[in-house]
Amino acid sequence: MARTPIVAGNWKMHKTVLEAVELVNALVDKLENVKGVETVVCPPFTALWPVRQALADTNIQLGAQNIFWEAQGAWTSQIAPGMLTDVGCKYVIIGHSETRGRFGTVTEDLQKVLSYFSETDETINKKVKTALAAGLTPIVCCGELLEERKAGKTDDVVRKQITADLAGLTPEQAAGIVIAYEPVWAIGTGEVCDSPEANRVCGVIRATVKDIFGAEAAESVRIQYGGSVKPDNSAELLHQPEIDGALVGGASLKADDFVAIVKSAL
Ligand code: PGA
Repeated sequence: MARTPIVAGNWKMHKTVLEAVELVNALVDKLENVKGVETVVCPPFTALWPVRQALADTNIQLGAQNIFWEAQGAWTSQIAPGMLTDVGCKYVIIGHSETRGRFGTVTEDLQKVLSYFSETDETINKKVKTALAAGLTPIVCCGELLEERKAGKTDDVVRKQITADLAGLTPEQAAGIVIAYEPVWAIGTGEVCDSPEANRVCGVIRATVKDIFGAEAAESVRIQYGGSVKPDNSAELLHQPEIDGALVGGASLKADDFVAIVKSAL
């Protein structure tokens, strides 16, 4: 079964409302006639609604960068699933290495700050289940730190993360999600994982899904690569057999770069 490639832009903590709408208007214009690849933008929470309005009647989908597992209540700063569907989100990024507190390539000081987010596989699992129950498609991130790669633990790390993050899902649910393999050392560093190796690890992830949920789920689940994806390396990555798209950070902030990456998936 052919899987439709999915390219998602993770804007992280960038763009005011005006800048966000300007970027998305440019994307709508340039991607209007592009078919055969699903395109998603994940702006910061503050820009979700205006971006949604700019995306109305287009083929570009909206995603959020995080979610909380309670429906409502005294949870200062958190965003409930119903709030995301209310503003038209279809996707939500869950377990990004920056929210897991596993951002391994930054200075020690910044590492300390980031570790305060400290998401665990258990909270990620709760968020994945919550998102699915709300009708959102999770983009579940996994990936190893540089030390883990050097110690030969890459496969074990992603297997353990995926097993814990997807625990308790039905095979149908697992089939419909998106998984992003994002080696932490490749995020925002310009140091891309080479295509055969990215493909190999995505294969390990697919085999893990197969072990837990069966062959059909493994055939259907879409697995993205993320980490320093740019227009000049995306075509090779996106044409690997186990890679079904990209989660793009820095290069998703410039319309021309993101459009080139989306088109390279075809
Ligand atoms: P990058 O980020 O493309 O800037 O490396 C990817 C990500 O964090 O999802």
